[in-house]
Amino acid sequence: MALVPRKKKRKDPALSLDGEAPVGVVKFSEVGIFLVERKMGSSRRSFLTELARKKGFRVEEQMSESVTHVVSENNAGHEVLELLEKQSGICRTEFTAALVDITWFSESMGAGKPLELENRHLLQVKRAAAGTIVVPVSPYACQRRTTLDNKNRLLTDALKILAENAELSANEGRYLAFTRASSVLKSLPYNVTKMDDLKEIPNLGDHSRKVIKEILEDGTCSEVQNLIQSESFQTRKQFTTIFGVGVKTADKWFREGLRTLDELRSSKIKLSKEQEAGLLYYEDLIKPVTKAEADLIRQIVEATVHRFRPAAVVTLTGGFRRGKEYGHDVDFLITHREEGKEEGLISQVISSLTAQKEMVNNVEPSRPCSNGSLAENEPRGIRLTSHAGTTQHITTAAAKEKDWKAVRVDLVVAPFGQYAYALLGWTGSRLFERDLRRYAKHFKHMSLSSHSLFDKKQNKFLPAATEEEIFAHLGLDYIPPQERHA
Ligand code: CTP
Ligand code: MN
Ligand code: MN
Repeated sequence: MALVPRKKKRKDPALSLDGEAPVGVVKFSEVGIFLVERKMGSSRRSFLTELARKKGFRVEEQMSESVTHVVSENNAGHEVLELLEKQSGICRTEFTAALVDITWFSESMGAGKPLELENRHLLQVKRAAAGTIVVPVSPYACQRRTTLDNKNRLLTDALKILAENAELSANEGRYLAFTRASSVLKSLPYNVTKMDDLKEIPNLGDHSRKVIKEILEDGTCSEVQNLIQSESFQTRKQFTTIFGVGVKTADKWFREGLRTLDELRSSKIKLSKEQEAGLLYYEDLIKPVTKAEADLIRQIVEATVHRFRPAAVVTLTGGFRRGKEYGHDVDFLITHREEGKEEGLISQVISSLTAQKEMVNNVEPSRPCSNGSLAENEPRGIRLTSHAGTTQHITTAAAKEKDWKAVRVDLVVAPFGQYAYALLGWTGSRLFERDLRRYAKHFKHMSLSSHSLFDKKQNKFLPAATEEEIFAHLGLDYIPPQERHA
């Protein structure tokens, strides 16, 4: 018997014409479905939810005890478990629901009723054998979740020294090898205590493994200890900590016999404007910038930007966006919803800060993405040295004992259409960015930059309004900034 008059039934768009259950009427209450949004995407999830409900299935928005079938698409069992643990706080051992593939869902929809579960519908969950840790780890940093919770600091600090030394020696290959090794260890959710813990871990070459083994056995690595104590490493490293000094210059100065900053100051060596500012504010710039200082600088930058473009958007990027408490600088991305209104903004901002005597130095642009430095004067003032151009780095300062402290600030301006790409590109970490580009090139035949993503197969640029869309273009799981500390 019809529950509603026939006439109304015809008119009600919520009721299907082919005899299916009215929306909201659950035909199979014993089955509770939860659709996992990851990889499926929110619009497809909403579509499938509606479809199932129309057919009389019970679909839950949240994971709960009444869910019997967790349905996901293109996810591995352990990934779904991890996600559910994170979202619902339920421990994986307490899950009673079946983890099923989208095939079960599609077939059930086709049949108009929930089908019996078969083995082929079930997601496989890799279980660790007793004593060993099995975690699938990608060789690409952009496929790993790397938080600030580094469980292997002793190992990663040592590998970082080796990477720094390789970089100082302009050995890019070795620099990358040690950086990758260090990065993969940072992503591990466990503390490595024996070489067996690293059996399945990629990116660990013979040299890195030797270093790790030595540290696990002796607590230190002789090669690293020797480096730390070597004059060559110490001196060149110190020189590169001067703003505007790269590894080539540091190496040149070292070979010319310079050993200290004072020797450099009293030498007749011609310094660039950046290097002069770097040396002048050396003591300040070497100190880590705190989050509180970054927030203060943000207010100054925002106020100045808004003076010229009230509707411009200023976003904190770099390490602070990833959730770091300290940084070597503060990075900002500036854009304007009305494309074109961002043009000329950077030079106005820099001029304004200069006019306020907040800027001490102004350096001409060296490349399209240029930078500068600003230093805060008085309790709230800024002094800065800067480059002009579409993309800028500045060095600023926050009040301290001597009234102000020089802090380096990077300002990047992007047209609104490139905003998502600029945001992704300037949030870092360096290796995360590098691997995103590498992944795009090797697996998708796409070229990624801080401006755009070009699909070489389709021969076109792919627009994106959000970082999530860029990850989706690349077929990658979205990794939030807090998990990009690769
Ligand atoms: N970046 C870039 N080109 C540069 C400098 C930086 O594309 N010439 C991008 C990199 O992706 C980098 C991000 O900007 O990861 C931020 O750079 P940087 O400030 O050097 O590093 P942070 O991760 O912010 O680290 P820190 O906290 O030490 O500043
Ligand atoms: Mn930074
Ligand atoms: Mn920076």
